[in-house]
Amino acid sequence: MSAISARAVAAKLLVPVINAEGSLASLDADIAAHGVAERDRGFVKALCFGVCRAYPRLDALAAELLRQPFKKRDSDVQALLLLGLYQLLHMRVPAHAAVSETAGAARGVGKAWATRVLNGCLRRFQRESVALQAKVDRDPPVALWHPAWLLKALRQAWPDAWQALCAANNEAGPMTLRVNRRRTTRDAYLERLGGAGIEASACHFAADGIQLAAAVDVYQLPGFAEGDVSVQDESAQLCADLLAPALEGRDGARVFDACAAPGGKSAHLLERFTLDLTASDIDPGRLARVGATLERLGLDARLNALDASSATLAETLGQASDAAAPSAGFDAILLDAPCSGTGVIRRHPDIKLTRRASDIGDLAALQARLLDNLWRQLAPGGTLLYATCSVLPAENAEQIAAFLARTPDARATTPEDLAWGQTAGHGRQLLTAQGGHDGFFYARLEKVLP
Ligand SMILES: C[S@@+](CC[C@H](N)C(=O)[O-])C[C@H]1O[C@@H](n2cnc3c(N)ncnc32)[C@H](O)[C@@H]1O
Repeated sequence: MSAISARAVAAKLLVPVINAEGSLASLDADIAAHGVAERDRGFVKALCFGVCRAYPRLDALAAELLRQPFKKRDSDVQALLLLGLYQLLHMRVPAHAAVSETAGAARGVGKAWATRVLNGCLRRFQRESVALQAKVDRDPPVALWHPAWLLKALRQAWPDAWQALCAANNEAGPMTLRVNRRRTTRDAYLERLGGAGIEASACHFAADGIQLAAAVDVYQLPGFAEGDVSVQDESAQLCADLLAPALEGRDGARVFDACAAPGGKSAHLLERFTLDLTASDIDPGRLARVGATLERLGLDARLNALDASSATLAETLGQASDAAAPSAGFDAILLDAPCSGTGVIRRHPDIKLTRRASDIGDLAALQARLLDNLWRQLAPGGTLLYATCSVLPAENAEQIAAFLARTPDARATTPEDLAWGQTAGHGRQLLTAQGGHDGFFYARLEKVLP
């Protein structure tokens, strides 16, 4: 496949995202499905991710270059203009190739008429780049590459940290590994990475975490196929530490991971503790990924596709497994709740295009329903760990404050003397760190004995 078609494929894959009708969730598979040659796949991915990351600014520049916006049916041409600008501004593609091959890719999307328009816009951008950038950058959301609603929410929530947060959101996140304690140690695995010529260092906070200096294909990692390591951000790994007081030395403890897919935290818990684990997710397709992950790691759990907010959850759990008799309640529950993903924007930059301000209230309402429903499945004395990859208080500290106010038998036990994050109400907030961990929130709750 030529580079021209690679650009055309990137444009096609960006169309649903630009129209907020789809995401880049299955980007690797979609690129392969378009028949993109191996050597061009990284380029297509970099274009799609890059355009989403810088979208607010690229879109503002495109608006300056066009006499009138493209019609919705020509979103593929709009996508080509954005990815042309992205190459000129942020990629090491020679400028002449960025212009001519992007314009030529109009033929690849079946719009030969757009070749001239794209050529004209991109050449004008080359001539007037400094002035055009200065003009659009007067608008803070454009200059900071964030949608206006999100920038406002971040400023409100984090008056001292919002600028650093924006900068972190605009970078690609580091590749972080979790060492499987059942098979090796972090020190031993660091040595193996060194032997394989992969530069890496121990994470600051997560005991099993290793951060790579540069991302590599997982199959280049020694022992990946055998289950020695997994890819997981450092913040996500802190879940096992927070549950350690409830699970360490309690072999066979009955644990429910209610929103488990794709299975990172379930797997970590099983690597660290000997548990009777039920892992569920509402999405059967995503739940299948939990099964695949556990199989690679040589771990085992009961898998159920179910809606954890459903009024019949107890019955469903009872039917799904004799061992998980809901009447007794679980010793520990992990609610890694569906959320805005505002702590992981750098890993899912399409969030900048697909999320709306109105989603936050809907998500907070769902999280509250999940909390209330799952609380009923927890044994007296049991622990529920609430987690989100959000940095918005409505989904985090405010959510937990409201839950505690309406739940007399709940008490927060989130430690305050942690080396990571900051106290946020009754929980712990990690803000996305440049070159470090993702944005995350945890609150540990205990069901008071009657
Ligand atoms: C943040 S992800 C979980 C990540 C996972 N814990 C991990 O570490 O790999 C949230 C998950 O919640 C699932 N989900 C959303 N609504 C749900 C519901 N009502 N019941 C169960 N799962 C739900 C989504 O399908 C998604 O897989």
